[in-house]
This record gives sequence, structure tokens and C-alpha cells, in this order.
Amino acid sequence: MQARGPLMIEHRLIERMLSVIKEALAKIEEKKEVDPVFVDIAVDFIHVYADRTHHGKEEDILFRELKNRPLSTEDRRVMNELIEEHVFGRQTTGALVAANTRYRKGDKTALADITTQLQTLIDFYPRHIEKEDKVFFPSSRAYFTDKEDQTMLREFWEFDRKMIHEKYKLLVEGFEPKSER
Ligand SMILES: [Fe+2]
Ligand SMILES: [Fe+2]
Repeated sequence: MQARGPLMIEHRLIERMLSVIKEALAKIEEKKEVDPVFVDIAVDFIHVYADRTHHGKEEDILFRELKNRPLSTEDRRVMNELIEEHVFGRQTTGALVAANTRYRKGDKTALADITTQLQTLIDFYPRHIEKEDKVFFPSSRAYFTDKEDQTMLREFWEFDRKMIHEKYKLLVEGFEPKSER
């Protein structure tokens, strides 16, 4: 498998989650109410899987490696655009969390913000994925030898290996008083 393999497999699961969110959004709009626990679960998926695990491999390994290579002007431009889109994704998720908190506290105007942020995610994310799958991953592959690509793949697996431990360590730490850490 090439290094981009796991990234593309992850894209497929992210797309499936976006379909789930899309269906949920239609029901939210129809009923004019939302289950805040569903939003929590969607946020957890986006935060831990899409952002930390997936964007983590892209930014901390693939893009890090590419930064030291003689990228064409176009490839560098696309890479910077992808990084900006990751930031935008984080901002959208942050706004979604804030709206969900307001909704839980009984602020009914928060519902419109929740639907806006969910809609933003399902509109923007597939375009980001397509740009990586069809444009950036194929063109950036040319900057690596087969051996370098395989080294990067191993680093991806190692990155993934740590993720489940990080998630639950943070969860426990979130419950502990700060002085015990
Ligand atoms: Fe990305
Ligand atoms: Fe990606």
C-alpha cells in the first residue's frame, strides 16, 4: 500500500459520517429540534477521527515532509489551501460546540446556528476530500521515492497506534482535578 492509502480509506469513513449528518440534518430541520447528544457524537467523530487522527497524519507527517521539498508553485498553493481548510473545519466544529452548549441551556436561537454549522461541514468537507484524493495526493506522490513513501506509511501506522490511548487518557484527565495530573 502507498502512504496515501490509509488517508484515502479514512476519507471514505468521513464521507459516510457526512451522509449520516446529512440525514440527521434533514430531520432536525423538519422537527425543529435537535438531540444535543447526536451533536456531541458528531463533534467527537470530527474532532478525534477527522481532525486529530486524519488531519494529524496529513499535517504532522505528509505536509511536514513536503515542506522541505521543492514543491511547484501550484502544489505549494494547494497545500496551503488544504491547511487553511483544516483551520476552517476546526472553526466550524468549534462554532458547532458553542451552539450546542447554548441549545442545551435552552437558547432556542441556537438551533439555527447548529443547522448552519452542520450544513457548512457537509458542503465544504467533500470538496476538501476530492481535492486531496484527485489533485494533491497524486501530484505530491512525485516528490517521494518508493522507499520514502513506505517510510511515511510506517510513520502513519505509528501515529495511529497512539491515537486511542491519547483519546482515553485525555478523557480520564478531563475528569480528574488538575492537581492530580
Ligand atoms: Fe485534509
Ligand atoms: Fe484528508
